[in-house]
Amino acid sequence: MTISSQSLANKPLLGVNVDHVATLRQARGVAYPSPLAAALLCEQAGADGITIHLREDRRHIQDADVYEIAAQLTTRLNLEMAATAEMLAIAREVKPFWVCLVPEKRAELTTEGGLDVASQTSHLTDYLSELHAAGIKVSLFIDPDETQIAAAVACHADAIELHTGTYAEVGLAKDLEAQEFELQRIKEAVTMAQRLDDKLLINAGHGLTRDNVGAIAQISGIYELNIGHALIADALFVGLEKAVIMMKNAMHQGIL
Ligand code: PXP
Repeated sequence: MTISSQSLANKPLLGVNVDHVATLRQARGVAYPSPLAAALLCEQAGADGITIHLREDRRHIQDADVYEIAAQLTTRLNLEMAATAEMLAIAREVKPFWVCLVPEKRAELTTEGGLDVASQTSHLTDYLSELHAAGIKVSLFIDPDETQIAAAVACHADAIELHTGTYAEVGLAKDLEAQEFELQRIKEAVTMAQRLDDKLLINAGHGLTRDNVGAIAQISGIYELNIGHALIADALFVGLEKAVIMMKNAMHQGIL
């Protein structure tokens, strides 16, 4: 599986985040539902990759999930993690296709902001070179901000994932002016990233739903969208396979 497996020009890929299948399992401390079974079903339904976040507190995905999923996926695993020594050791063993480095705070409900790459370029440059030496491609989850994009390029990131959380939040609050502003910020960030490094892949994610994904998917230059919570929520009503198909349709609507 290579990076160039983007099948249709201009149509972003869909990475499905199955963390919240594990959230449901952990709520009862039982063996079901299985994130692995969910990941395989998403692949069958057309997901281009699977994302899981192994958090320091192991609140949803567990170590065993990471090993099982990595062994059985036929698309690509994107392992989200904090840039710690513990996670580096796991990534080296698992060898996911992608690692996406994210900030992590114990008390947060979900990843709240982008990684502050600019304040730790030296640490991250070394960290990325360790991952690269293990044959792993690295994406950095950052806010759509010029300083952070330049810092990600300086650290030799293979990809950035632009944080769409604020865009999603103001949209849910029905603040259309703020949503348009956030959309412009993301568009400008894509243009800036392309200008700084024409090989850098540009992903986006967080808070995306069938209602708000279209405008992000239509931005030229976006490679992949990573979507979890809203898609798993849809699956409660329509089933996982249909939820994946519906999300892909929402992403590709209006793109020729
Ligand atoms: N991308 C990153 C880096 C994330 O941390 C998350 C949440 O785990 C997502 C995408 C998916 O966000 P959501 O679950 O809101 O779709």
